[in-house]
Amino acid sequence: MKTIPIVSGAKPDTGHIEEYSANFVQFLLRAEAECGVLAEYNLAGQETILLSGVEAQEFFFRGSDENLSRAAAYQAMVPVFGPGVIFDAPPDKMKSQLKIQVDALRYQNMKNYAPVIAQEVEDWIADWGDEGELDFMDEFLELTIHTATHCLLGKDFRDKMTAEFKTLYRDLEAGLQAIAFVDPYMQQPIFEQRDRARERLEEIITAMIDERRNSDIEYNDALATFMTGTYADGSCLTSTEVTGLVIATIFAGHHTSSGTSTWMLTELARHPKETAAIVEELNAIYQQDETLSHNALREMPKMESFLNEVLRVHPPLVVLMRRVINDIEFDGHAIPAGKTVAISIFGSHRNPEYFPNPEIFDPSRTEPETMFAYIPFGGGRHKCGGNAFALLQQKAIFSALLRRYSFEIVDQSDSYVDDLSGMVLRPKSPCRLRYKRRVS
Ligand code: HEM
Repeated sequence: MKTIPIVSGAKPDTGHIEEYSANFVQFLLRAEAECGVLAEYNLAGQETILLSGVEAQEFFFRGSDENLSRAAAYQAMVPVFGPGVIFDAPPDKMKSQLKIQVDALRYQNMKNYAPVIAQEVEDWIADWGDEGELDFMDEFLELTIHTATHCLLGKDFRDKMTAEFKTLYRDLEAGLQAIAFVDPYMQQPIFEQRDRARERLEEIITAMIDERRNSDIEYNDALATFMTGTYADGSCLTSTEVTGLVIATIFAGHHTSSGTSTWMLTELARHPKETAAIVEELNAIYQQDETLSHNALREMPKMESFLNEVLRVHPPLVVLMRRVINDIEFDGHAIPAGKTVAISIFGSHRNPEYFPNPEIFDPSRTEPETMFAYIPFGGGRHKCGGNAFALLQQKAIFSALLRRYSFEIVDQSDSYVDDLSGMVLRPKSPCRLRYKRRVS
């Protein structure tokens, strides 16, 4: 068997955690450049092997849950989602919960969600006036929590949406730092804040569940799907489990979507020629029918190519992980049980074999034929369940914005950079852009 090369620079007690926490994106690029297809590093005791290249990524995505466990690798999520939920549930319950979660996000349900998202977008821009300047990272964080809660928890909840809910959700999300993957129960103020927020959110959501259980109204949102979903033995989910699914679904879609929208708008502002072509495409679509909610479900090839390139250059989820449960072998290397394997989506999207001149933003690129090079939504059995929702939301947002306003960057172009303080990539705040109403 071949030996797996170890990334240089490990410290005796803590390994590579310091460098990884400071800039995990660059660390992973360095690991691949130095070691090649397999690169081993140590995150304060957790020995991890980065698998790079299309064959290695295919191996990662095709691994069974029994050999490569997502649950064991993502134990940092347990205090966020709650006890007995997804990564803390026994395997058969976890499968049922994931199925119920993905059921709520099925393509067929997008017809219910489209008018809700369209309404939220219209309300958001209603008082913008003719021109102005905004921090769009903040704006999109707010908009996407509104769309997610409205679609998942219904109009009543969204109408009563309080500043408290948003603060609680922010505190919960802030608990997901690189260090949480080492020990999510460490005594740290951000973890204490996360736990208090989870407790209060459970109170709020349980009250809603109780209210619905005592009501005759029929709901067709995601919460209704979670409340009526059953396990193999016919039993329903408990309130803690329903709360956990609500939190997990908002969690999966919030930073990923808000970061994508912010990068999308920034890149549109940086690329006026491509933006003009997208506006032309939108005008042709809207000439036939003015309804935002219908059109957001239609194909928009130019907008979609642009979005694909945004997701290639700025993939919100940089790194995916699995824990090795049974010894495995890849390319003549033994990978023993207990280690973690990881892939870097950011690194994969910069592979010059599939993306020539990878640093150049070029929406005219064609997608590689292999399924395992362009992977913003992951791949295999755990590929993003919210893919259709995410696409619908981006199309609704940018149809409404681009037809009414033009956008310009305010600061130096190269000052719009990634924020590396969390585990989900997004532009650093403030991400200031100027808007101006289009003259028709
Ligand atoms: C641009 C936006 C998004 C991106 C780039 C994205 C990316 C991803 C990726 C890479 C995974 C795979 C994780 C892994 O293999 O470990 C994933 C899983 C998932 N995502 Fe998304 N996501 C996005 C939006 C959303 C939204 C809006 C929702 C829900 C409303 C959502 C729900 C989920 C769920 C439920 C899973 C887990 C699927 C399973 O385990 O079977 N995502 N996402």
